[in-house]
Amino acid sequence: MNSYIVNGPGVLNGSISLPGDKSISHRAVILGAIAQGRTVIKGLLESEDVLSTINAFRNMGVGINHHNLDGIVIDGVGLRGLKDPKRPLDMGNSGTAMRLMAGVLAGQSFPSTLVGDNSLSRRPMSRIVEPLLALGADISAERTDYPPIQIRPVKHLKGVDYVMPVASAQVKSAFLLAALCADGLSRVKEPEETRDHTERMLRGFGHSISKQGDWISVIGGTELVATNVEVPGDLSSAAFFIVGAAIARNSKITLKNVGVNPTRTGVIDILQNMGANIGCLNENTICGEPIASLIVNSSSLKAVQIDTHQVAGAIDEFPILSIAAACAAGRTTLHGAQELRFKESDRIRSIVSGLTGLGVSVEERADGYTINGGNIFPGEVDSHSDHRIAMAFAMAGLVVSGSVYIRDTVNVRTSFPDFVELAASTGMQIQEKRGSSGG
Ligand code: S3P
Repeated sequence: MNSYIVNGPGVLNGSISLPGDKSISHRAVILGAIAQGRTVIKGLLESEDVLSTINAFRNMGVGINHHNLDGIVIDGVGLRGLKDPKRPLDMGNSGTAMRLMAGVLAGQSFPSTLVGDNSLSRRPMSRIVEPLLALGADISAERTDYPPIQIRPVKHLKGVDYVMPVASAQVKSAFLLAALCADGLSRVKEPEETRDHTERMLRGFGHSISKQGDWISVIGGTELVATNVEVPGDLSSAAFFIVGAAIARNSKITLKNVGVNPTRTGVIDILQNMGANIGCLNENTICGEPIASLIVNSSSLKAVQIDTHQVAGAIDEFPILSIAAACAAGRTTLHGAQELRFKESDRIRSIVSGLTGLGVSVEERADGYTINGGNIFPGEVDSHSDHRIAMAFAMAGLVVSGSVYIRDTVNVRTSFPDFVELAASTGMQIQEKRGSSGG
């Protein structure tokens, strides 16, 4: 089992580029594979999660190759050109890969099975089974809610209106991807706005997807046209360094070309409310996605209240926001975040037990937590095989007088394969121990 040791107190300095956005990378591969023609992707995140999506399409006959100068080249097969994979498609640790792929497969003319690792096999899938059944798919999950997912061919899918009970970009995207193959008009409405990368990228591939009021509409049956995609740096990966520079003394870091899509920037808003010093430079747009360089200086943070409507826009950042809260003066409370229990680990539980292990006083609730900010102390943390828990607690090492030891860090490669090297390049005292089983 791999682990990290971070020695503090530390300082973060420098100017770094982050790896490609994970959500956008999945979507670029998916749309490239089902478009007609050749798509070239620059800046694709080549992490384990995205490789699960790539391998699934390779197993369905799509040519996906590296071209040294160009990036990743995908020879798309069109909406109906995928081939029967004849064996289960393994989506590894990736909820995004499994849920979006279910949408792609719902309208195909061959049967398919989606499987995942231990963590993914415990994550809820009825949330995508239900909208896909509404579109006329023949799909089922184990004990109605868990992987493996079985999909059997149907004559045709038929457009419907669907009101989503949970705010989830994966559910919305599964519906929209299936709707591409459905007869007529499909519409979906979400309870809170979630990341809109699928909608933006569909437009980039020539689709006429539109939004009227709260309803997102897709007319099925039109082929996507291949295009070139450039993937911005991942704000969710940048968030570790934003918080790291904010909490470590005498630190200043520049994060270049990070995606700042407004459906993702909740983490910046929450940190600025806490008093973080975050500036934005060189704003631009690539492939329909806003980007900017972020400059972060050390600052004194204060506690905030985070409410339900702020959760979707920062859904992946609560592990690292909890480290900011532990360093802030006062009690930070989070409400309406029960979705965190269905991530790569039960993140409310993982955050509470991790902070408790580092001497921070925390109260757990079904839908969130209260963190009594002040000091973080040396200690040991279990990541529960969750990449974002591992990276968040690595940043806690910047403010301790001593070491933070983090167990079970191997899944960091699902989203951020070069995390340790990049963190060390900014001055962090971080080491990875490979294959050890304890502290
Ligand atoms: C994602 C959506 C979010 C997020 C995940 C990526 C996506 O999940 O947590 O890391 O790319 O659509 P939910 O849809 O479950 O909120």
